[in-house]
Amino acid sequence: MLLGVNIDHIAVLREARKINDPDPLDAISLVKRAGADQITIHLREDRRHINDMDALRIIENSQLPINMECAIDAEIIDTVIDMNPHRVTLVPEKREEVTTEGGLNLITNFKTIEKISKRLKEANIELSVFIDPDMFQIKMAKSLGAQWIELHTGLYANIYAMLNTNLKNTNHSIKELDLPREALHVKLQDATKQLQSSAKLADELEIKVAAGHGLNYQNVRAVANIPEIIELNIGQSIIARSIFTGFESAVKEMVHEISR
Ligand code: PXP
Repeated sequence: MLLGVNIDHIAVLREARKINDPDPLDAISLVKRAGADQITIHLREDRRHINDMDALRIIENSQLPINMECAIDAEIIDTVIDMNPHRVTLVPEKREEVTTEGGLNLITNFKTIEKISKRLKEANIELSVFIDPDMFQIKMAKSLGAQWIELHTGLYANIYAMLNTNLKNTNHSIKELDLPREALHVKLQDATKQLQSSAKLADELEIKVAAGHGLNYQNVRAVANIPEIIELNIGQSIIARSIFTGFESAVKEMVHEISR
């Protein structure tokens, strides 16, 4: 199982003060030393955390591949292609959201993504699409020529959190989780099964499968156990733990957790 560490949250902390510290660039050698496999960053249209200079410096200096998340916006796609990351993960993006909510709809955005896919292929950059675990979306990903899909685990993570802590974990589909415990158990099983069958279908279609969003040291095991999922992208829980235990140690613990 490969681990991509999402380091946006280091820039979130820096932007809280609008100074130079902490620098997300300082994380990249520690991610490698801790045994993870990839750096994931999200260049948002509003540049609210990672900015262009961060992305350029990280791409230039990282010994690990860079997975760059971005919206399907023409200006941001131009910028990202110029930066030449290893992989681009297309995500839905709304300015007012706290973090990525839900997967990208490949059906309503088919024409736009088709053009992006062509441009990425010409630039020799891998394409991944961040989608909900939905059979139709996976078939669309295949038609679009995506080499990867990343399955949105937000719903699974939220149900898990509601059952175990009564607190939400991500802001994904909160309303439908206002249910008694027995019903939440069934929902958790359904969400896990959806991830399993989606990963299986993608694998059959020869698409590589990643997953992420809301995964933490408690809920990650069931997702890591799905054989067709070969990579997890995790940010918030690792950065949160690193405040108390140190960054390298927090990454190491996650590497350990997902390889168990
Ligand atoms: N994967 C994608 C596509 C994301 O947008 C995010 C959130 O930025 C993550 C993974 C990581 O999610 P989390 O910070 O909840 O671990």
